[in-house]
Amino acid sequence: MRALICDRNEGIAGLRLGELPDPQPAAGELVLRVAAAGVNFYDTLIVQGKYQIKPPLPFAPGGEVAGTVAAVGEGVAGFRIGDRVCAFTSYGGDAELCRARVSQTWRLPQAVDFDSAAAGLVAYGTAWFALHDRGRLAAGETVLVLGAAGGVGLAAVQIAHAAGARVIAAASSPERLALCREAGADLGIEYSRQELKDAVKELTAGRGADVVIDVVGGAFTESALRATAWRGRLLVIGFAAGEIPRLPANLLLLKGCEASGVFWDELLRREPARAAEQVGQVLAGFADGSLRPRISARYPLSRGAEALQMLAGRKAPGKLLITPAEA
Ligand SMILES: NC(=O)c1ccc[n+]([C@@H]2O[C@H](COP(=O)([O-])OP(=O)(O)OC[C@H]3O[C@@H](n4cnc5c(N)ncnc54)[C@H](OP(=O)(O)O)[C@@H]3O)[C@@H](O)[C@H]2O)c1
Repeated sequence: MRALICDRNEGIAGLRLGELPDPQPAAGELVLRVAAAGVNFYDTLIVQGKYQIKPPLPFAPGGEVAGTVAAVGEGVAGFRIGDRVCAFTSYGGDAELCRARVSQTWRLPQAVDFDSAAAGLVAYGTAWFALHDRGRLAAGETVLVLGAAGGVGLAAVQIAHAAGARVIAAASSPERLALCREAGADLGIEYSRQELKDAVKELTAGRGADVVIDVVGGAFTESALRATAWRGRLLVIGFAAGEIPRLPANLLLLKGCEASGVFWDELLRREPARAAEQVGQVLAGFADGSLRPRISARYPLSRGAEALQMLAGRKAPGKLLITPAEA
């Protein structure tokens, strides 16, 4: 099969289009014919050998896919060849075929197209888990989203807006903030120019944000914690800025607030039934149009490395897709 291949953990520049053996399903697995794969920040890490999971070389990146079931492994019940599904695969999705665990594969409602599912599974799954589960978001609360124009960020803006929250988006340019407004953000902060804590306090009449979505890390995390309201919830999701922050614990005490970790992959492994219920909510949102992944570009496998480069260079608003179809 054709695949975007990582031979030596040399990063995006080392990726090439080539042939890998067709995958076979192990017990409890499916093989999917990929229609589209979403591009995620961790794809840029996994091809450098810097992600928690280090696949045996050579491998194809691509951790979230949508497509049809092409083969069913031993002991699998509930899926048939031809079923339309989406799956979290960690890697292997930037190819014509990929393996998927049954526990991390979900059937698509008829109204959900492959592109939306491939673009939205991880970002909306993570944002839903963060806001509704770890963050216990209530209507009327104020949500601050850092990195709001990225994949998880835009998903969080839409989910929070749909839940009746007041959403403050933080992004690095006016163009990116405009995108956040289209997705439902009420207010915006250009955090590359404005001091984050002061801007949030000003927009909330000194009260602060009830819930903070943090996918950026670095110095922004402490500023965001300082901008958190009494009983607020700071949700630690990722460190796109590259630096893992340390937090002064006295701020948690003074504000009576929480800092909570959000690790969606681990939710899938440890609590598959709960994860399936949340993915079901997300797919229902795609089906009724209340949630809409913003796809900014589709790349064929032959140009897949360009897609990863766009994401790594902070040039990708919303989500990018890689598709086996060349056209
Ligand atoms: N915990 C989990 O379960 C989970 C699940 C999915 C993703 N994640 C993590 O969450 C983070 C965001 O993922 P994503 O898919 O939303 O990525 P993304 O689409 O690249 O978005 C990240 C956003 O962070 C902002 N950013 C600020 N400083 C940055 C820097 N130095 N380099 C790159 N971006 C920077 C960018 O927005 P501006 O340019 O506007 O600032 C960008 O839009 C990643 O660290 C990812 O690994 C975690």
